[in-house]
Amino acid sequence: MSSQDFAIAIMAAGKGTRLKSKRPKVLHEVGGKPLVAHVIRSAAEVVPPQNIYVIIGHEAENVRSAVGQTGVNFVLQAEQRGTGHAIQTAQNELAKYANFLVLSGDAPLIRAETIRRIRDFHIEQDAAMTILTAAPSDPTGYGRVLREGSTNRVAAIVEQKSLRPEQSNVGEINSGFYAFSSNPLFANIHRLVTNNPHGEYYLTDMAALLVAEGQKVMAIRAEDPDEVLGGNTIAELMSLDANMRMRKARSLMGEGVTIFRPETCVIDDDVRIAADATIEPFVQLLGKTVVGEGSRIRSYSVITNSTIGDNVSVLPGCVVDDSSIANGAVIGPYSHLRSGSDIGEGAHLGNFVETKKMRLGRGSKANHLSYLGDAEIGAGVNVGAGTITCNYDGTKKHKTVIEDGVFVGSDSTLVAPVKIGHGAYLGAASCITADVPPDSLAIARGIQVVKEGWAKKKREEGQKK
Ligand code: UD1
Ligand code: CA
Repeated sequence: MSSQDFAIAIMAAGKGTRLKSKRPKVLHEVGGKPLVAHVIRSAAEVVPPQNIYVIIGHEAENVRSAVGQTGVNFVLQAEQRGTGHAIQTAQNELAKYANFLVLSGDAPLIRAETIRRIRDFHIEQDAAMTILTAAPSDPTGYGRVLREGSTNRVAAIVEQKSLRPEQSNVGEINSGFYAFSSNPLFANIHRLVTNNPHGEYYLTDMAALLVAEGQKVMAIRAEDPDEVLGGNTIAELMSLDANMRMRKARSLMGEGVTIFRPETCVIDDDVRIAADATIEPFVQLLGKTVVGEGSRIRSYSVITNSTIGDNVSVLPGCVVDDSSIANGAVIGPYSHLRSGSDIGEGAHLGNFVETKKMRLGRGSKANHLSYLGDAEIGAGVNVGAGTITCNYDGTKKHKTVIEDGVFVGSDSTLVAPVKIGHGAYLGAASCITADVPPDSLAIARGIQVVKEGWAKKKREEGQKK
């Protein structure tokens, strides 16, 4: 079977009324990404994106712009009249394929291997409809699958609200993932009706409809019931999020990463961490962050879209955004690296130092209480405590260049644009407003005046009054 023969439809048009949110359900995030992005990612491991059709409706343009870069197709279901109606809306596109899969945009834990399993079973059985089922500990809220005796043939799917008392003990649920054979489906889909508590066209009703037509409707059980969990409420979404992050942590631990108290860490799906890295409790690693071998990220650090080299120490309480830290560097505690910070090999960036759009060269140190922005700092530089690059004149930003081997005395202010030549010394508390040539000393501060006995005299005068 060529991939052209198989498509995947992802239903993502619903509003998600139960979330009580202005945002459409499928754009709510779990594991650091919108729900629907996870489903697309798994689908795209099975078929090329041009064979994926995302059915959008509520806030369609926002959904389209959130996931459009994946290269999938979109089908607009302008009015959302149920899951059956969603597939009717996409009939023109889907009927081009002999078989296709339907996934729910709100069930993000689905894995590519399970999608392949449904597809292969469906083709092998030559079924009209194949339903992925599961037996979770609590089936409440899900549609239930009624089998024909103890076979793997399905008689019908009954939604929670329509369950008859004698059906309420059925523990097998409909996951909302299906495979269909186009011909029998589209020959019968117009027969769906809306005589149900929601007044919607239910795709689930196709099971009984196809059976009545003498078609084969099959069930295939998910190995892990958690994989099909959907999120209809914020509480359910947060439990999906916890589930997904634990899955991520487990997979990293399997690759040799030590994660203490993994239940307290927030690690996004796309984050990569090398073996022998250590992640302490209450760390967040977000976006496309990469952490190298042997590095240790200490508690309460939040690192987003950044590259951390090998054997780096991130001490507690650091915030790092869109930055890179080279091998062997030490940052923190409480460093704030804003976007475009580039910390060189073995450099130290210490307590309460804020950086932005800057480079700190190999082995350089800025250990205490500084602001370093729009700066190019060479190798072997010592930036004293309290140093500030004054990069902003109220209108424009200007650059500070500090060449290799410079010693910047504590409490210096460097008014940019300014350049300090290699090997130069800046006296403490200098306000540097002009370039300093290499290997020279610059002092720019008031000259100390000492008046001996002045304080004592003043006290004595006070007592006489
Ligand atoms: C659905 C199934 C239920 C199953 C459950 C699994 C139906 C009638 N019921 O219920 O048997 O146990 O999923 O999670 O299908 N959508 C559209 N267009 C619409 C309506 C919905 O695209 O007109 C999308 C939603 O955005 C969502 C998905 O379809 O991503 C499922 O819809 P939802 O309302 O969440 O169905 P459930 O009530 O969860
Ligand atoms: Ca749902």
